[in-house]
Amino acid sequence: MKLQQAQQGHEVPHPASGPTDKEDELVAVHRSLLQHADEPGALLPILHDVQDALGYIPAHTVPVIADALNLSRAEVHGVVTYYHHFRAEPAGRHVIQICRAEACQAMGADALLAHAELRLGCNAHGTSKDGAFTLEPAFCLGLCASSPAMTLDDQPHARMTAKSFDALVAQTSGGRA
Ligand code: FES
Repeated sequence: MKLQQAQQGHEVPHPASGPTDKEDELVAVHRSLLQHADEPGALLPILHDVQDALGYIPAHTVPVIADALNLSRAEVHGVVTYYHHFRAEPAGRHVIQICRAEACQAMGADALLAHAELRLGCNAHGTSKDGAFTLEPAFCLGLCASSPAMTLDDQPHARMTAKSFDALVAQTSGGRA
């Protein structure tokens, strides 16, 4: 029984291991509920747990979380959509974060982000049509001395230009994107 596995601390599928079914997703939710539901302000840590485990907050988990915390579905949904950190849809196969904090802005981060949006065909917080890349703004990646900076699947890349961005995207896509 998967809920029992969650209670015993067994692993749930990692987002990188492929799509999960609804029962797997509920295991992740129940595991976090067991840990946090009785705490004040439990909603945010639970949403963080679910997103860390699944990569997003599936719509069918919202009523489960709402019921457990005695909240309305609208309240939970409102928090998921209010914070850009939370995703209501799965991310693309690769996640790009472009820093928009001060040092990077001074070195052309806005132009880099605009180029990335054009190159990938999606806005910040969006995913390219082919599902390959999700594009997210970030606020300081700790590479301020080598700005503008970005990460690709959590790997840092410094002193980015439109050209190096395109090269990275092409390399990640195996020359296809
Ligand atoms: S300001 Fe961009 S990495 Fe710090």
